[in-house]
Amino acid sequence: MTIKIEGDVKGAAQAGRLLAEGRLVAFPTETVYGLGCDATDEVAVARLYDAKGRPSFNPLIIHVPDAASARALGRFDATAARLADAFWPGPLTLVVPAAVGSPVSLLARAGLDSLGLRVPGHALARTIVAASGKPIAAPSANRSGHVSPTLAAHVVEDLDGRIEAVIDGGPCPVGVESTIVACLGGVPRLLRPGGVSREAIETVIGAPLAGGEGAAIVAPGMTASHYAPRARLRLDATDPRPDEAHLAFGGAPKASGRVLDLSPRGDVVEAAANLFRYLRLLDGEGHAGIAVAPIPRDGLGEAIHDRLARAAAEKG
Ligand code: TXA
Ligand code: MG
Repeated sequence: MTIKIEGDVKGAAQAGRLLAEGRLVAFPTETVYGLGCDATDEVAVARLYDAKGRPSFNPLIIHVPDAASARALGRFDATAARLADAFWPGPLTLVVPAAVGSPVSLLARAGLDSLGLRVPGHALARTIVAASGKPIAAPSANRSGHVSPTLAAHVVEDLDGRIEAVIDGGPCPVGVESTIVACLGGVPRLLRPGGVSREAIETVIGAPLAGGEGAAIVAPGMTASHYAPRARLRLDATDPRPDEAHLAFGGAPKASGRVLDLSPRGDVVEAAANLFRYLRLLDGEGHAGIAVAPIPRDGLGEAIHDRLARAAAEKG
């Protein structure tokens, strides 16, 4: 059962405690209700994707209580700094390069070297995030494919029994998601229109934003929405070759060479939590290829397959 918590000072403290323990807690922001979890906890993030029923791992927006916290997690160029000054707290997400040694989980970042950061304009949201003491990953608090919730009751309709708690803070004043702008060097790019208008942003930076629909490449090795390893990926592989590392699943590794098992007990949620970390680890070791074992397609398995297929396709 999902518990309903009042959006007052006491409720915010309780929400912060639950988040710090790795629980899933929905809370209001000025845009839509977000489903939050500790962004540094890979398993909590995997459970969050599972609760939403997402068929793919989109990178999640990381919520922090103030701009100083954001700047500890990401690298802000002059444009990003100016946009943060102008629009935070508020419905703007800035995608910036992750700081070296960023504690934000690779699964929350979908394996990317960048981070979507936002300081919500809703005071209750900031209080909850501050109370948790953690950066909070929060996609909209709906089941995948449903519209974003702007009332606590919408959250309950979609996610009752799948999350620990929902904080009722009344209706969301903006009602559409945050605007997303990528500041990754070069011209800043509009990735998603939202609560702050393109015009308002262009006025602040004194120049037009780059177009921005979809997954255009924004920097070498860094695509807008998915991770690409250097090594060649071979999927559904049961027979690792001598020059390949083996990304196994469910125990009983078949290879004599380098093996990492995504989930020895065969649990897709655990596999999701390890996916990007293990891919990066093996990729960093310089193997020519990575043979990925067959993984079930139920639950988070579908999202794992989606991400692996994209990562494999990147190599052409
Ligand atoms: O208003 C909002 O932004 C709401 C509230 C809860 O804060 N959150 C929200 O999250 O809309 P979500 O998960 O529905 O949207 C996240 C989107 C991703 O699909 C992706 O387009 C973009 O944010 N994003 C996040 N991190 C990114 C990154 N590192 N690079 C590119 N895009 C990123
Ligand atoms: Mg959404």
